[in-house]
Amino acid sequence: MPEAEILFTRDQIAKRVAELGSQISKDFAGQRIILLGVLKGATVFLSDLARNISVEATFDFVGISSYRDKSVSSGEVRLTKDVDESMEGRNVILVEDILDTGLTISYLTKIISAHQPRALRICTLLDKPARRQVPVRADYIGFEIPDKFVVGYGMDYAERYRNLEDIRILSPESLT
Ligand code: IMP
Ligand code: MG
Repeated sequence: MPEAEILFTRDQIAKRVAELGSQISKDFAGQRIILLGVLKGATVFLSDLARNISVEATFDFVGISSYRDKSVSSGEVRLTKDVDESMEGRNVILVEDILDTGLTISYLTKIISAHQPRALRICTLLDKPARRQVPVRADYIGFEIPDKFVVGYGMDYAERYRNLEDIRILSPESLT
């Protein structure tokens, strides 16, 4: 592990994820929801979030390719795994690790909207508003962060560091 300053500890993350879970449970009281995770970064967040949600929740996942092992977005988004079931008439919570340029979420929002869900909400653990290229806003945000490259808690650099329990800032020297 190269030098990497801790941005959020596991305890800070756990506390915030619990708050997001209760908010979603409140907003969808008495209803069923589907947690639609974006592979692979959102898996750790989704699994913790789901266990903090008290309403009936099922899981589905979409796969997206855009970063190609780089720390800067190529600007190109491609679907590598579609949803398993139609989202028609469902309450869909799109669960993402980090909202950066917004390209991924705006692309997915278009695709899922075409299914005509009953509701479509965006839940992101991290938001980097300074990097936005397309105007998208999340409904549920864990933390707003500055324009730094982070890893851990599901998030990677070239597929590494996803299993770190806290969220760390990877120094620019290690991003080669
Ligand atoms: P967007 O399409 O630019 O919003 O990109 C969102 C995706 O880029 C996220 O799902 C992450 O996979 C990746 N990403 C953006 N910033 C970071 C970061 O700081 N660390 C790790 N992955 C990131
Ligand atoms: Mg991702």
